[in-house]
Amino acid sequence: MLKIPFLNLYLQYRAIKKEIDSAIQKVIEDSAFSGGKYVAKFEKQFAKYIGIKYAVGVNSGTSALHLALVALGIGKGDEVIMPGNTFIATVWAVSYVGAKPVFVDCNPDTWQIDETRVKGQISNKVKAIIGVHLFGQPFDIEKVLRICRKHKLYLIEDCAQAHGAIYKGIKVGSYGDLACFSFYPGKNLGAYGEAGAVLTNNARYAERMSRLRNHSSVKKYQHNEIGFNMRMDGIQAAVLSIKLKYLDKWNRRRKEIANIYRTKIINPLIKMQYQPSGSESAYHLFVVTSKNRDKFIKFLKKNGIEALIHYPIPCHLQQAYQDLGYKRGDLPVTEEFAENCVSLPIYPELEKQAINKICQVVNRYEG
Ligand SMILES: Cc1ncc(COP(=O)(O)O)c(C=O)c1O
Repeated sequence: MLKIPFLNLYLQYRAIKKEIDSAIQKVIEDSAFSGGKYVAKFEKQFAKYIGIKYAVGVNSGTSALHLALVALGIGKGDEVIMPGNTFIATVWAVSYVGAKPVFVDCNPDTWQIDETRVKGQISNKVKAIIGVHLFGQPFDIEKVLRICRKHKLYLIEDCAQAHGAIYKGIKVGSYGDLACFSFYPGKNLGAYGEAGAVLTNNARYAERMSRLRNHSSVKKYQHNEIGFNMRMDGIQAAVLSIKLKYLDKWNRRRKEIANIYRTKIINPLIKMQYQPSGSESAYHLFVVTSKNRDKFIKFLKKNGIEALIHYPIPCHLQQAYQDLGYKRGDLPVTEEFAENCVSLPIYPELEKQAINKICQVVNRYEG
């Protein structure tokens, strides 16, 4: 039986092994391990790719979000609005700066932040909205930006899953005051370890974040504010510079696979993420919902297909956030989604035979 893993990063490495091996070798020979010229080179390349002036490379997507909130001066007594339907790291960053996360429900079709629910949460404590391009699909940036402008709130884009996704003709990451990316290995643009970046058109933020991530060094051993060690590794930057050249090609392949799923999966028990016109998902994940989700996953597994859940417990119901006082029923759409969601394999190296098998098996599921 053809076994289909959820992800196989080795296949990607095999295709670019020569380039990657020699790039890593070069960093080692230059001893450019922490920060340095390879990081500066990747920052320039990635900023250009997204169409933004500055990129500040850091050691993870979580650090990118943390640093973004510090740069905006958000802290104790402040509140930050975000969707309850996201990966937990979006929320951690708000907690790290001592601010309070305020969750809003998601839209039942796009599974993205429901902007109609944002208005009810706005108070003078709210300083920012973090919008998440979940699964690679842009949220409705224009609508959220309108709210931000009206109420003088910052917009932070969490682009951890959306490298190369497009909203109204422009890449996501160029709309917010700041945009945060993760280069965790399994992402569309993934490092060979941990890495992230914050992007902005604002020179002041960029300059401050560059300092803050490097122990707030004004010059060697002079520190004018409390800083962090959030530097990006040279090896990660060198790997990312190589992989960036292939990102559009890989994203095109993800889109092709997604289009096959969208046309060939015709099981009425399976619902897909609605894609509004004018937006192009980067298809980091291909998520569907199904009644009897656990049974569906077992059925896929029995047929050799590995499927995962992103994410089984919504942020507002996590034990870590029980002090915030949310309870089941507060974000009903997010909760229903968490109970029914299933992620099917999607990665550029997935072969035709595997894609066809996934469609056939999903269509055979009877609930
Ligand atoms: C939506 C979202 N935000 C933030 C992060 C955090 O990124 P990292 O794992 O690089 O810290 C991730 C990564 O999984 C993510 O998916």
